[in-house]
This record gives sequence, C-alpha cells and structure tokens, in this order.
Amino acid sequence: MQTLTRRTLLQTAALPFALRAQGSKRSYDESKVGAYTLPDPLKGVPNADAWRKHRRDELLQLFADNVYGRRPNPGSHQPFEDVAVDDNAIGGKARRKLVKARFGKAPDDPSMDLLLYLPKNRKAQVPVFLGVNFRGNHTITLDPAIPLTPKWVYNNGKAAVNNRSTESSRGTQANQWPVEQILARGYGLATFYAGDLFPDHDGGYDASVLPLFYKKGQSRREPNEWGAIGAWAWGLSRAMDYLETDSDVDRHRVAVIGHSRMGKTALWAGASDARFAMVVSNCSGAGGAALARRRFGESVKDINRSFPWWFCENYRSFADNEDALPVDQHELLALCAPRPLYVGTAEDDRGADTKGQFLSALNAAPVYKLLGTDGFGANEVPAVHKPVMTTIGFHVRTGRHDITPYDWDQYMNHADLHMRHNPERKS
Ligand code: GCU
Repeated sequence: MQTLTRRTLLQTAALPFALRAQGSKRSYDESKVGAYTLPDPLKGVPNADAWRKHRRDELLQLFADNVYGRRPNPGSHQPFEDVAVDDNAIGGKARRKLVKARFGKAPDDPSMDLLLYLPKNRKAQVPVFLGVNFRGNHTITLDPAIPLTPKWVYNNGKAAVNNRSTESSRGTQANQWPVEQILARGYGLATFYAGDLFPDHDGGYDASVLPLFYKKGQSRREPNEWGAIGAWAWGLSRAMDYLETDSDVDRHRVAVIGHSRMGKTALWAGASDARFAMVVSNCSGAGGAALARRRFGESVKDINRSFPWWFCENYRSFADNEDALPVDQHELLALCAPRPLYVGTAEDDRGADTKGQFLSALNAAPVYKLLGTDGFGANEVPAVHKPVMTTIGFHVRTGRHDITPYDWDQYMNHADLHMRHNPERKS
C-alpha cells in the first residue's frame, strides 16, 4: 500500500487539534496534505478466492458499520405494479414505463415510482443505466406524461411551493439527464426520486423507509444503521429487482450511476449489490470516491456536520480522526471489482478532491488485477478530457460540479467497451 510521507509524524499527530482550532476550515492546499497510510484491501488475501470468500464481506461490513449503516434485507415480496406503458414517448423515440413499488402495507407507507425509457428501435433486450434523481422524475425531461412527485421536494424558491412540486419544475434537471443521447446510443434509462426512499433533510427519517424496518419498540436508528444514502442505495436494489423482471431489459447489463450525493449512493449500491454490471460515480467526492485520509476539500467532519442524515451515526466519530477509520474509499471502489467502474471528476470541483478520487481508483486497482482485469491504466491524474478507459475508467472534465453530456458520453463509451455479461451473476 502507498504511504505518503510529506508531513512528519509529529505534524500528523497535531492535525486534529489544529483543525479544531481553525473550526475545520476546508483545505485546498496540496502541500498541506499530511502523511497517511491507506488500509490495504488485500490484507490477508493470498488469492482471488480468499477475496471472494472472506475479504469482500469483511470490507462490506466495515463500510456498513462505520460509514453507510447496515441495511435490512428486503424480504421476498416484490411489490411492483405497472402503472403505464407508452410506445410513443420522447417524440416517438422511446417506450416509457411507469412502475410503482409499494414497500409497506398501509396506503401511505413509502412507495417508489420508477421511470423507465427504452429505445424504441431496439432489436434485443437493452442495457440500462439506473440512477436516483434529486427532485422528482418529472424534472428529468419535459415529457408531460410524467406525474409531478407528490412527495416533499427541496424548496429553492422556484421549483416548489411549500415543498410540493409545481409544473414549473418540469424538466428543470434535464441538462443532467440527456435522455435522447442515451437512447440514441442504444441504452435505456431508469430513475426514481430520492425522496421516495428518504426525503433529503434532517427531518426525513419519519417519511423514509427506515421505520418500516424498526424492531418492536424501536423509534430511531441505531448508530450502525442506515441513513439516507443507505436508503437510496437500497432503493436502487429494489429498482434492480424490477429490472430483472422486465423482458425489455438486459438484466446482465444494468449500470448503476449517480452524480454527487447520488454518486456516493451509486458506489455504495454497486459495492453492496453485485447484480449491477457496472458502477459509475460522477463528482461523488467525500463519502464517495475521494479518499477520506487526504482531508482535502470536504472532510468527514464537514459532511457529517452539513448532512448528518446521509451516513450512519458511527461515521461521526471519525471527524478529525480519519486515520482511525478501518476503511478508506479506495476499498469501496475495490468492492465493485471485477465489474467495470468509472470515476468522473471535474476540474473546478475542488471540494470533491479530484486527486483524492484518482488515488482511490489507483489504490483499488490491485483488487481489480487480482480478479483478472487490466485494472487502472494511469499513474497520474490524466489531463482534462483525456479519459482513461481501462476496466477502472477515469476522467477530469473542464468545468464545475455537475454531470454533463460529455460525462455521459464517456460512461457510455466505457459501457460499450466493458459492460459485458456480468461476471458476478450466477444466472
Ligand atoms: C454538497 C455536499 C457534497 C455533495 C453535494 C451534492 O455539496 O457537500 O458532498 O456531493 O452536496 O450532492 O450535490
């Protein structure tokens, strides 16, 4: 494992106190990145079999207990209803399906509305990109047939009144979801609204799926139980349950994708659920692809202070104490091995630490190699718009924190190259 030694041990030991004294101001100064030793994903792993049989589960549990929280098993009931199918969506280019999943027994228990677009001219089952959206299915296109989400939505003063969606929010996220570009490349797109699983705010617990799984007498989560990212990732697995049953979909080629907090979610979903044949993290940063131990940009402390509902409560104990974490984020990437993985970053997205995301990919590569892939074909951060297209893909795009048509193009190029019959699937 790589040990970086630019800071003396003495300085490293002093870091937590220094950070506290500064009120944890974010650091964007590469020269201030201290010495750290990354945990070795291949610790005690003599061969690929040992990884598959023991180490993979061990790491998954460590991430569950310390970062994202444990999540429950779904049970055997798959509660999907086809709500509507239309063969003339997107100007006649797509088949659109609206599918509802109900998770509880009571009418107002949480439910998830899955939106699926498939290219109309498909000849066989199609590969699909699946991702969570931030503001409601109706925000990803101008398609008037998509119902406005009736759930709580973030009120930015324009798109929502009293935290309810209005017509003016239709299509407002369309620049991040280039549906026509995706369909033209022969891929389908499936998405659901994050708020169906966990409304994205600190009071979101009660309306989330968490209470459905409380034990008798339990009224709040335990310190090692899931939060919003866990619930969103769980929703991705439930969406996958549906996609497996849809005869238009190639269930061996479903890629899970996400931007920013949904990039963190996509990584956790891809690590936890090997049915996803490819994993794409776009600008996921802290708690996603970026190494925690670099403490560059957004730190464990920052993210837990701003978004305490995203992770499990145990994660808070690593604020200013990253070296005590039993894992680091390169091991989350390694949990996706040997499936194709792509980490997209942006030049001006400093808070998400491009270099930290690159080093994560680099340090996940030994696991990818052990499992028989070509690993990661770069030794240093590539120049902007020079994507690396090995089994672990990577790029730096110009511009800010966002997901753009350029990013999607790289993800589809990578899927064209690598998303084959999922090697982790038994059937
Ligand atoms: C905030 C947060 C990031 C997150 C981003 C997003 O900026 O600090 O960690 O990725 O929101 O999800 O948009």
